[in-house]
Amino acid sequence: MADLNAIFAARVPRYTSYPTAPHFHSGIRENTYAEWLTELPAATSVSLYLHVPFCDTLCWFCGCHTTVVNNYAPVASYCNLLAKELAMVAKTLDGRRTVTHIHWGGGSPTLLTPDDVGRLSAAIHEWFDVAPHAEFAIEIDPRGFGGDMAWALAAAGVTRASIGVQDCDPKVQKAINRVQSDAETADCVALLRAAGIGKLNLDLIYGLPYQTEDGINRNIDFALSLHPDRLAVFGYAHVPSFKKHQALIPESALPDVAGRLEQESLIHDLLCATGYVPVGLDHYARPDDAMALAAREGTLARNFQGYTTDTAPALIGLGASAIGALPQGYVQNQVAVPIWRAAIEAGNLATARGFALSFDDRVHRHVIERLMCDFAIDLKQVRRQFHLPCRYFDDALMRLQPLAQDGMVRIEEECMTVTPGLRPAVRLASAAFDAYLDGGGARHALSA
Ligand SMILES: C[S@@+](CC[C@H](N)C(=O)[O-])C[C@H]1O[C@@H](n2cnc3c(N)ncnc32)[C@H](O)[C@@H]1O
Ligand code: SF4
Repeated sequence: MADLNAIFAARVPRYTSYPTAPHFHSGIRENTYAEWLTELPAATSVSLYLHVPFCDTLCWFCGCHTTVVNNYAPVASYCNLLAKELAMVAKTLDGRRTVTHIHWGGGSPTLLTPDDVGRLSAAIHEWFDVAPHAEFAIEIDPRGFGGDMAWALAAAGVTRASIGVQDCDPKVQKAINRVQSDAETADCVALLRAAGIGKLNLDLIYGLPYQTEDGINRNIDFALSLHPDRLAVFGYAHVPSFKKHQALIPESALPDVAGRLEQESLIHDLLCATGYVPVGLDHYARPDDAMALAAREGTLARNFQGYTTDTAPALIGLGASAIGALPQGYVQNQVAVPIWRAAIEAGNLATARGFALSFDDRVHRHVIERLMCDFAIDLKQVRRQFHLPCRYFDDALMRLQPLAQDGMVRIEEECMTVTPGLRPAVRLASAAFDAYLDGGGARHALSA
């Protein structure tokens, strides 16, 4: 185990994009984004990500782009500007587009009033054709969630909800400033189901301060009692140099790498024993869930929200810090809410940075996305698909040798498979195909 611990102590990206966000640069601004939008072929379906960067209180573990607000005025005006940004993007596109996937994330989008939820959803329908089978997912903080909001979400067309649970132990909750009773979570689930939103995901985190084996058993028991379709089980990403408030987390109470691996493996065993199937690096789903199906069929995808069944060729990001992924490359909006606000108020797109993909980037992006989703890759097949020369992947294969020697991956000819039971090794294997690693000044969390 000592060797594995050392290897998992490596800090490598989670690859929600390739190249990863720290490599985005300010050479890509609103004029490039407008060009890319105009170039999107008419038949291209799109997915929409709307970011709501507001919360009632700050959880000290939080790694998201969010700020605490004490009154509703800034949220209301943000919501109006989101509708304006939607209209600006829609007008830049050459013709009306079909939307196959909508995601409202944050922060806590359920901080909006029920009326604003309706207004924002109406703005989407005003500017886009939402496909009848489109998935509309939203992230929910169950604290303070009420029946009026559940019905407003249902009326807006929400089909799937992702509920933040994190951990149920009061000692852990106090240490992460996220006090939430089991009853609050269970009520939220019941209200959503009563309103007809039946597809539910729960977010849990391991690697938090003071978590014990008993506590983890209890978290899973509680989560299972709610019968979710999916669970996202994240390893706590502790990067206080990047997220200053994480310094409030007592570091001495955090598990070490071996402890994190044990927690991950306990959760894995408990969920698999109950019939959930592991999907990707950190998700579990009922075998009949669309995500489990996508994983089986090799169509699972990865984007900034993590694993997804969304395969639309263009993801349009709206709101402060939102990232879009177009066939030509990535674009990120201004992260600071006041700067994003000023751009949209002035009638400009709010693009702050991005990345234009070269041919090699597209090849590596494909390999890394398939690896992160399938835990295996046939490089010969990739060479055929992209018309690449024989020795194209030689350097990457050389970088994989130490992992193969440690038994983390198996390489036969040009087929590479991550060892079953060592799912976190997929980040290290992906890093072997990352031409930019260590060049972006990024700080990443532990790979396990
Ligand atoms: C935007 S929040 C979900 C909605 C809502 N704000 C909430 O917290 O209930 C996204 C999720 O990311 C996860 N998360 C946030 N910060 C994290 C971190 N530092 N490490 C691992 N997971 C994290 C949490 O599980 C959280 O539920
Ligand atoms: S975890 Fe969710 S509720 Fe907590 S601060 Fe982050 S975004 Fe807000």
